[in-house]
Amino acid sequence: MAKILITGGTGYIGSHTAVEIFNAGHQYIIVDNLSNSSIDVISGIEKITGVKPIFFNIDLKDKTLTEQFFNSHSDIDSVIHFAAYKAVGESVQEPLKYYENNLLSLINVLENIKLHKIKSIVFSSSCTVYGQPNKLPVTEQSPILKADSPYGNTKQISEEIIQDFIKSNNGNCKAVSLRYFNPVGAHESAEIGELPLGTPNNLVPFITQTAAGIRAELKIFGNDYNTPDGTAVRDYIHVVDIAKAHVAAINRLLNHHNKSDFEVFNLGTGKGNSVLEIVKTFEAVTGIKLNYRITERRPGDVEQIWANTDKANIELNWKTQTSIGESLLTAWIREKKYRRI
Ligand code: UFG
Repeated sequence: MAKILITGGTGYIGSHTAVEIFNAGHQYIIVDNLSNSSIDVISGIEKITGVKPIFFNIDLKDKTLTEQFFNSHSDIDSVIHFAAYKAVGESVQEPLKYYENNLLSLINVLENIKLHKIKSIVFSSSCTVYGQPNKLPVTEQSPILKADSPYGNTKQISEEIIQDFIKSNNGNCKAVSLRYFNPVGAHESAEIGELPLGTPNNLVPFITQTAAGIRAELKIFGNDYNTPDGTAVRDYIHVVDIAKAHVAAINRLLNHHNKSDFEVFNLGTGKGNSVLEIVKTFEAVTGIKLNYRITERRPGDVEQIWANTDKANIELNWKTQTSIGESLLTAWIREKKYRRI
């Protein structure tokens, strides 16, 4: 059993990971500043696990507060670092907010990892680092292309910062960077899920809110892509499968099974689905007819991307377990529970 710090642990992927870290028999502490999550998530996790999570409301870009936290928790074995802003469009409007928050928080965490001789970190990265790859499915060796957004750039720069830090640290700390494809769905209990603050940018929350009658219609952004049905293709992966990969990564680091001090893994299903396929699958599993309309492409969207998952399957001994239909159903059940419908 190890003690794991989960930064951003009240967020969407962080909260599901906290549950799986608990299920794996580890202790954990959540640090989050609730900038894009709710304190209710703590009771959601408690309902699932039966144990109230230890939670600190701390802004990790505050150097002093971060130091104080680590000084009083010097027995942490490993860190899973989720805490970051993640809205692509907002990052284009407010780039400095993204660079300041995402990079300062990481730097403060790494400084304390060094100071307190913490042995490992798992970093929350994104397939956005690949841009539109020339070859699909995309492997971890695919080139990193210039980021399309400041958000994506913070993920690229963060990976570089971590690599430089690991190199400078004479083997005292190891890192795994997990590049998520498109996380969807919710815990089967529906006690936690994606937090629908404001108008969703992402496809699945927009679908569930349309089904719930909160949005009048779903806009499908473009049907003239070079894909089988003309709509854009992504690799949608259930959030609990992603959470379980974090447990695999943590155990790999704790057990010294890593092959180098900095490792990268794609977290996807290995299968692409078009926007229309997602809509049709949602309709099939829920029996709800969605009101949707084809509109213009959304600026900055890539045409198609899905993961080659061989490395994660073999090295992490991890595989996705949830179909896209099951994933969409969990998203809908969560939406209904949250809206009390
Ligand atoms: N889409 C619609 N209508 C909507 C919302 C989305 O048609 O209302 C389409 C998008 O155009 C895209 C697909 O659904 O083709 C998926 O869009 P999302 O916004 O759900 O996801 P993205 O693939 O654009 O973005 C995700 C993450 C980002 C990350 C990016 C990396 O949300 O954090 O993957 O590619 F940077």
